[in-house]
Amino acid sequence: MARRGIGSVGPVIRRALTRAALRVAVKVARPAPPPALPVFAMGMAFINPLGLAAGFDDDGTLLAALALSGFGSIEIGTVRTPTMLRAALAHIGRHPRHARIGINLAATATGDAGETAERWRTLMGLTWDAADYLVANLSGSRGAPGRAESLTAQAAMIGAIHGSLARTRGSHTPLAVKCALEHVPAGTLGSLGGCGVDAVIGVSADRDLIARAVRDLAPLPLISVGGIRDGEDVATRLAAGAALVQIHTAFCRRGPFFPRRLLANLATGTMPRGGG
Ligand SMILES: Cc1cc2nc3c(=O)[nH]c(=O)nc-3n(C[C@H](O)[C@H](O)[C@H](O)COP(=O)(O)O)c2cc1C
Repeated sequence: MARRGIGSVGPVIRRALTRAALRVAVKVARPAPPPALPVFAMGMAFINPLGLAAGFDDDGTLLAALALSGFGSIEIGTVRTPTMLRAALAHIGRHPRHARIGINLAATATGDAGETAERWRTLMGLTWDAADYLVANLSGSRGAPGRAESLTAQAAMIGAIHGSLARTRGSHTPLAVKCALEHVPAGTLGSLGGCGVDAVIGVSADRDLIARAVRDLAPLPLISVGGIRDGEDVATRLAAGAALVQIHTAFCRRGPFFPRRLLANLATGTMPRGGG
């Protein structure tokens, strides 16, 4: 029990330290814009392919500071309740939008399928006009495996709600599904396009799995997250066909200016192993 407690505290403390460093850095530094590495995914342009994964900024309070870090996209959340969401939306409204903003959502499942669907509808409806893209988080907490056996069924249910919102609103806010690739049964990813999903955020550091996911999903884009530590990892994921990448742990370990170093390396094609 005690050992599990210590193990789980590490990333949380690292995240808290990086959050504090970010708040200070943004007060003392006025960094120049990061190099432009434009990419196109989910029907929209991103200033670069590097995103911040969910779980760092739960409620959008750090959005302005994070945008200075150089990220091309910032995913806030996971947001689970309308109350949490309303607080986050207030911050998003004040954010100067040069980075794309994703909102990672997870409706708590109840035993009642209709009630669970209604929760998804409420969360997606509230975020529809505020986010550049929505994420249905079907991975477990901290990117751990979710209930993979029901991935297609859940994606179909969420995709149907998303489609009906698009018709009602007369607009489209792209929907990505986040899942742990290790736990997706072979052949399942290919069916997600038919569920009305616009992209998959695949959690995995396994190169073969990532390459297979890219093939299975095409033409849907894969956003690759998990185990990216340096520029070479980013370059490898992009070379494997990932449209975008996201980082979490490396950002917490390497600090507020790590994304800029990483993007500068990507722009010049210099990829120091273990470095920026
Ligand atoms: C402290 C911590 C909190 C996280 N919280 C969330 C979360 O709320 N929602 C989510 O989808 N992923 C969450 N994640 C998972 C990350 O978004 C990411 O998928 C995972 O850490 C793998 O990327 P990394 O190897 O770069 O850390 C969290 C991860 C950590 C370490």
